Amino acid sequence: MRAAVAGPIVLVGAGNMGGAMLSGWLGSGRDGSSIIVLDPSPSEAIKAKLAEKGASSYAVAPDGMIAGILFLAVKPQMMDTVLPTVARLVGPQTVVVSVAAGTTLASLSKHLGDAAMVRAMPNTPAMIGRGITGAYGNARVTDEQRGQVTDLLKVSGPVEWVSSEADIDAVTAVSGSGPAYVFYLVECMAEAGRKLGLPADLAMRLARETVSGAGELMRRSPDDAAQLRKNVTSPGGTTAAALSVLMADEGMQPLFDTALAAARKRAEELGS
Ligand SMILES: NC(=O)c1ccc[n+]([C@@H]2O[C@H](COP(=O)([O-])OP(=O)(O)OC[C@H]3O[C@@H](n4cnc5c(N)ncnc54)[C@H](OP(=O)(O)O)[C@@H]3O)[C@@H](O)[C@H]2O)c1
Repeated sequence: MRAAVAGPIVLVGAGNMGGAMLSGWLGSGRDGSSIIVLDPSPSEAIKAKLAEKGASSYAVAPDGMIAGILFLAVKPQMMDTVLPTVARLVGPQTVVVSVAAGTTLASLSKHLGDAAMVRAMPNTPAMIGRGITGAYGNARVTDEQRGQVTDLLKVSGPVEWVSSEADIDAVTAVSGSGPAYVFYLVECMAEAGRKLGLPADLAMRLARETVSGAGELMRRSPDDAAQLRKNVTSPGGTTAAALSVLMADEGMQPLFDTALAAARKRAEELGS
């Protein structure tokens, strides 16, 4: 049963992430008339989707409108420009949701006041309904609003609520930025295959299908990642030879520790 929202869902910014969320909302049977998009230049695809489902879009919000959920999906660097223009949409019943990396609740409050607010961090597989979102809500967010926000976010995959705002920067480092690490893994595997003498395009096909197939296997299997790895590693075999390099003291773990620490630091800098 979907939790009722006190007013329209107002999406500010219908780009990559906002557009993906919007597609999920409209595709999951949500009433189009309950959704308002604010974007100065929505794409033709977004305009067609809105028209088909009876949802409206404006460059600037009509006078007197108060949002039930104000969903902010503009770039972090646009926030100081956009927030003053949408502050009047926030009423006592409104919950504000921001997906902007690094934008803190304190910085949102400067423009939007002491509102119920959620910081959420989705990732790009949201575009195919296969994302995962970390979310943190301030003390003003009621259980009912948390349910409403979970309903909105879960169209793109599971929603994990964290207990401190600082954890959102760590979520950003793991899953928000994570798809890029996986794509880079494919690039590295393909390049290593090319160096072993395979044609570059064949090496890329092998790497790409291996990573996506292994991901799908992991999704469907009850086993955790470590068990799945052990399942394909015969003692003394080829996989064991490669893993002895990747799992060495100077192998992938310290590299990932450093990389994710850099991502979290950058998220903290964006929020300061
Ligand atoms: N993409 C990701 O992987 C990802 C993951 C997690 C979180 N996020 C967060 O999602 C947010 C959006 O990222 P994105 O990749 O979707 O960016 P994007 O594609 O550039 O989308 C932003 C949208 O906001 C529009 N916009 C610009 N000024 C506006 C205004 N004054 N009022 C309303 N809309 C305005 C932009 O229009 P124009 O194109 O015409 O400027 C664009 O359609 C960011 O804060 C990012 O941190 C993104």
